[in-house]
Amino acid sequence: MWNPDLYQKTLSFANRAHRKQQLPGSDLPYVAHLCNVCMEAVHAVLQSGTEDIDLTMQCALLHDTIEDTEITYEDVVKAFGARVADGVLALTKNEALEKPDRMPDSLQRILQQSSEVRIVKMADRINNLSEPPHYWTKEKRMKYQTEARLILDTLGGVNPFVERRLSHRIEQYSQYIKD
Ligand code: NI
Repeated sequence: MWNPDLYQKTLSFANRAHRKQQLPGSDLPYVAHLCNVCMEAVHAVLQSGTEDIDLTMQCALLHDTIEDTEITYEDVVKAFGARVADGVLALTKNEALEKPDRMPDSLQRILQQSSEVRIVKMADRINNLSEPPHYWTKEKRMKYQTEARLILDTLGGVNPFVERRLSHRIEQYSQYIKD
């Protein structure tokens, strides 16, 4: 089973780190995205019963801290240990690279991590394939859907539950791409 105290500690850490950030195109706090990704990933892990729930939950709640906040890899190591921090780091895009290279690079680093980290990345994209911000162009939406297919093709093969959900969301996303 999983550890509720660890969930609360990790959620508080992530919520504090993202406290100034809101969901794109909305005035809602960013923590809603983190909770949704966590729910999605933990749901998949509970279905299969083979992965580490605490590791999944922690990587999900922390997945955007290094990328989007002042939190560093070392901060995450100090608070939660190297296993969690390594997962979060793999989920972080390297901003030193050209934009088109960032996702493929992150996916290659995620592949070197455990299946829990792969599940978190797929859960993240499931949540992000909800209705896009109104100001996204058709081209951007199409690119986002294509990138989601790359994520599924690259990371799939570990957890059929999350992969089925992602595949379904990719199909459903076409509704946001019509003229
Ligand atoms: Ni995210």
